[in-house]
Amino acid sequence: MWRVPALLLALTSGALSLDKLNMCMDGKHHKVNPGPEGKLYLQCAPWRENACCTANTSTEAHDDASYLYNFNWNHCGAMSPQCKKHFIQDTCFYECSPHLGPWIQPVDQSWRRERILDVPLCNEDCHSWWEDCKNDFTCKTDWHKGWDWSSGTNRCPEGSKCRKWTEVYPTAKSMCEQIWSNSYLYTTHPKTSGRCMQLWFTGSNPNWKVAEYYLNNAGQHQSFALTALLLPAVASFSVMMY
Ligand SMILES: *[C@@H]1O[C@H](CO)[C@@H](O)[C@H](O)[C@H]1NC(C)=O
Repeated sequence: MWRVPALLLALTSGALSLDKLNMCMDGKHHKVNPGPEGKLYLQCAPWRENACCTANTSTEAHDDASYLYNFNWNHCGAMSPQCKKHFIQDTCFYECSPHLGPWIQPVDQSWRRERILDVPLCNEDCHSWWEDCKNDFTCKTDWHKGWDWSSGTNRCPEGSKCRKWTEVYPTAKSMCEQIWSNSYLYTTHPKTSGRCMQLWFTGSNPNWKVAEYYLNNAGQHQSFALTALLLPAVASFSVMMY
């Protein structure tokens, strides 16, 4: 008598985790479901086997002020190429990754319905990003909000000043966490740990396993709560049957 509800429960929570492991967020340019995209461009190519971005999005991710977000990287003079490549990679990761499920949150914004929050970044990826941008300039800490968009692209708001990168972001941690309002979480985990998400990778996507790890571990209290919620119902059902 216990077997049927237990099986159902296992199937339901199994299906839920499977969805979270391979899915696309409800963003501005994301596909509805992940799948192969053989023509992904340059820095987005690692996602070719399974991606939430289209070939068009992957090409646009490499352009300045592309139609994706009209975002101007060069708001305090031209951004250096070594810095810009990290923002291109960040765009590829955001647009293409099918394994962000554990960190997707609903959000009340005009341009998207979901966002990512506290995605644990690998230490090397955060540090090389900061190192390569160290000599660039910016006028804002949080690049998600507060810009002057009156010209159609983002400009430094009145009263802000272009400052050295290291003045705005004294540490790699402050940059990775603050630049996209906590989309990323700084970690000390190295790429080999399997406990952090990689912006840069070659070969098969290592982030699937990382998402699985966080889903199984952080998710434990969730399925426990679900079980606690359903058990009384199942129990009374069994009593009724008896
Ligand atoms: C991508 O699609 C947009 C909108 O349809 C279009 O304006 C743009 O030219 C396309 N970009 C590429 C690289 O094909």
